[in-house]
Amino acid sequence: MSKLTILDNLSWRGSDKIYSLPWLRNRIEFSADPNRVKEFAKESAFTRSQLTIDLLTRFHLSNNSIVVSHDEHAHFLRERFSRCLPKKEAYPEISQELIDRLFCSMNDGSTNEEHHLSSELIREVYISLLENMLGANLSTELIQHIKDTKFKPGSRPVHLEGLMFAFSLQLPGVSLMRNIVDFVYFRGEHYTRKIAKELEKLVDKHATPKDGSWLSVLLELKEEGKITHPQYRGELTSMLVSSFSLSSALCSMLLCIAVLEEYVIKIRENEKMARCFVSEVLRLYSPFRRFGYEKKGTWEKRNKSATTATDFMVSLSDLHRNEKAWKDPEKFYPERFLTPGIAGGYKYLPFGMGNRSCIGRSYSIQMMINTLKYICSESFAWKLRLPKEYNGNHEGLPIPISGRLVSFPVDDRINICSL
Ligand code: HEM
Repeated sequence: MSKLTILDNLSWRGSDKIYSLPWLRNRIEFSADPNRVKEFAKESAFTRSQLTIDLLTRFHLSNNSIVVSHDEHAHFLRERFSRCLPKKEAYPEISQELIDRLFCSMNDGSTNEEHHLSSELIREVYISLLENMLGANLSTELIQHIKDTKFKPGSRPVHLEGLMFAFSLQLPGVSLMRNIVDFVYFRGEHYTRKIAKELEKLVDKHATPKDGSWLSVLLELKEEGKITHPQYRGELTSMLVSSFSLSSALCSMLLCIAVLEEYVIKIRENEKMARCFVSEVLRLYSPFRRFGYEKKGTWEKRNKSATTATDFMVSLSDLHRNEKAWKDPEKFYPERFLTPGIAGGYKYLPFGMGNRSCIGRSYSIQMMINTLKYICSESFAWKLRLPKEYNGNHEGLPIPISGRLVSFPVDDRINICSL
């Protein structure tokens, strides 16, 4: 079940999907066992791990956004952020607008035209997040720039990041070598950082805040000297990065509903089914395949302990497919979420856990549910079609890319036609 076979070959120690390498500078434990995750979460307080921060910083460009900041600063911003989220009744309109724009931009009148859904989605989700979550009025110039930008999901494989971290290859002394390797082998990551920088600059220059928006709060905090200019810019970049996560989830969801047409009627007829479908998409196709936590001082090179971990990586894609935790884990079966409590017990964590879990959780879930309901409604004017030779799994469902920070389906090609 585990895809961590390279680590097995390197004799990483452990059992039941727990991997550790205790003889290096950093000890990293990978786990896909809900009981071990629970034990880790309960035994003492934890925070975001340095390995994850390192990963996110390189992918995100910014060293300053909530996601990479220390707990105290993150809590201060998280609390303010939660007051700026759209009201529940706004989501149907936001989702409908997003989907209409997406389909209109993909529709060129030809039914045979194939589109790579991920890249198209990232563009539209990014505009939607800027307008509705950041709360910015966007100039036509900025919208045009976003429309002209090619969004290509890409980053260095996460296992490689883990190994580099364990061998201390993330330290500034070796950054030149690392940049050369990145340039030669991982241009996707290099490219993402380049466009992130450009977009951050343009949003800063051309976006004006709506009343009471997250952008207006950030500008106020900057004026009052409570956040620095780089921290403010870091939060602007967060919107781009978040659009990758939400686009990945929406992409998998649209491909799943295109394959499983019988759920269109089920979703129309049963109020609860849209949420169940979304939960099942996030179980099998979690945008984040791994993320990690840290407990300071629990393991030191000179004071090795066999039972505690410095970095604890939750291997989400394996946790969500762990056959000890889930019945028929590989089967796409949204109805499983009709059973109360099915997601409890640390076996279902698409948005992480603890006090640094995802702040975009409710926004994302509402966007997914309302998008799905709209796509399944009788008034929806488009049809999604997969190419004849679609490269999915044995049931025709998407296969996610492995080893990436934010994973996307391997084959994301889609045709659309108006009804
Ligand atoms: C389906 C879409 C999404 C998924 C699956 C997702 C998943 C995650 C995960 C796994 C984490 C790490 C949690 C942890 O370490 O415990 C995270 C953190 C975070 N996410 Fe999301 N995310 C999504 C969408 C969004 C959106 C739309 C936003 C927009 C604001 C967002 C903002 C953040 C931020 C700011 C953090 C860091 C929170 C902190 O460090 O305190 N995410 N997300």
